[in-house]
Amino acid sequence: MRQAPEIKMPLPGPKAAALVNRDRKYVSPSYTRDYPFVMAKGEGAIVEDVDGNVFLDCAAGIAVTSTGHAHPDVVRAITDQAQKFLHMSGTDFYYEPQVQLAEEIAGIVPVGGGTGEVRSFFGNSGAEAIEAALKLARWATKRFNVIAFLGSFHGRTLGALAVTSSKYIQRKGFGPMMPGVYHAPYANCYRCPLGLRPESCASECLNYLEDQILVHLVSPDEVAAVLVEPIQGEGGYVVPPAHFLQRLRELTKQHGMLLIADEVQSGMGRTGRMFACEHFDLDVDIITIAKGIASGMPLGVTAARADVMTWPPGAHASTFGGNPVSAAAALATIKVLKAGVIQNAATVGAHMIDRLKGLMDKHQLIGDVRGKGLMIGVELVRDRTTKERATTERDQVVQAMFQKGVLILGAGRNAIRFAPPMVLTREQADSIVNIFDDVLGTIAVKRS
Ligand SMILES: Cc1ncc(COP(=O)(O)O)c(C=O)c1O
Repeated sequence: MRQAPEIKMPLPGPKAAALVNRDRKYVSPSYTRDYPFVMAKGEGAIVEDVDGNVFLDCAAGIAVTSTGHAHPDVVRAITDQAQKFLHMSGTDFYYEPQVQLAEEIAGIVPVGGGTGEVRSFFGNSGAEAIEAALKLARWATKRFNVIAFLGSFHGRTLGALAVTSSKYIQRKGFGPMMPGVYHAPYANCYRCPLGLRPESCASECLNYLEDQILVHLVSPDEVAAVLVEPIQGEGGYVVPPAHFLQRLRELTKQHGMLLIADEVQSGMGRTGRMFACEHFDLDVDIITIAKGIASGMPLGVTAARADVMTWPPGAHASTFGGNPVSAAAALATIKVLKAGVIQNAATVGAHMIDRLKGLMDKHQLIGDVRGKGLMIGVELVRDRTTKERATTERDQVVQAMFQKGVLILGAGRNAIRFAPPMVLTREQADSIVNIFDDVLGTIAVKRS
């Protein structure tokens, strides 16, 4: 295994700087690049830039490269399939990888109460998986309203954007949004939206949904679905208490609403279980999957109870969705995940959480450490009592980690997300935490 990180020059190096300049002229400025990392190659949890600097990857291309960069089994599956055929469109024709993947998904998703009576729709991204889920929910219930949660991220296409409520920059200038969407408070117990304490709360935020939204704003029998991230991703890696999700399940059943779990980020083993829902004993009607499912090849899946996904030919489709190369990559990915990578996410993740919690005595800047498996959030605050958000400091930490050879991303307004490839070793996890420790020691906390 290569030594990492190994930074050989001030960053960005000359080749990286040149490419960033070319990008600036011709590529959409809407992308959110925090620092100038220009990828040349990668293996496992190690990536190298175009100038030969070597980094530890704690971002995994935004929680995507589940099996690590260029896992040999996944690369082989892609190459084998590419040599046979690249495309045929599952919309109009049949091919085995797509059917095989749908069979495999039916066996692993927390949908349909373990009966395996599950059907899958294939798209190319998380947002497309959400679009399909929203359309399916409307079609299946003949209702049109949807409940989503504050702080959630579901994508940036127009339907997905209407349910997203992470940062206003994602919505600003694009209104009006799709109608019929209501946002309820999410059970973020570190920053309770209702100002309550977790010890004495039984998901009061759901009372808000039941007693306010479903009384004053929309009739429950006109709500098609509730859409929830079982662990909020982009919103700050927020883990809700189990009773929040379980009560939500009861509420949706009571009113004939479908429950959609968005596991685009939390799924495919990232939390140490195949799906985050499993941590909460949650069985849903529809699940959306993307990111880690094909180790980096584009693929989005909307899987639903077979008796819900009964829409007719032509109702929904996508030319590229579930293309054979992505499907082959997904089949290989699932095999690798089951063969030990999910277990690794659980054990290395637990170790990393312990070590990060251990830093709290030393660094007052750390307000909260939370997560499951290798989906770990660290919220930075200027003061542990007031919980004033350390947003500038968070941004400085992300930059400093990059300069020291760790690729990491923020989440929410003041959290850092640790979402490495799930093949991360214990030693690599320790290196990342040690560098984080060093970096925190250099950050001056702003007092307002
Ligand atoms: C929970 C969740 N849903 C949906 C999406 C949208 O996925 P994509 O960027 O592939 O459209 C994301 C992306 O970050 C996500 O985290």
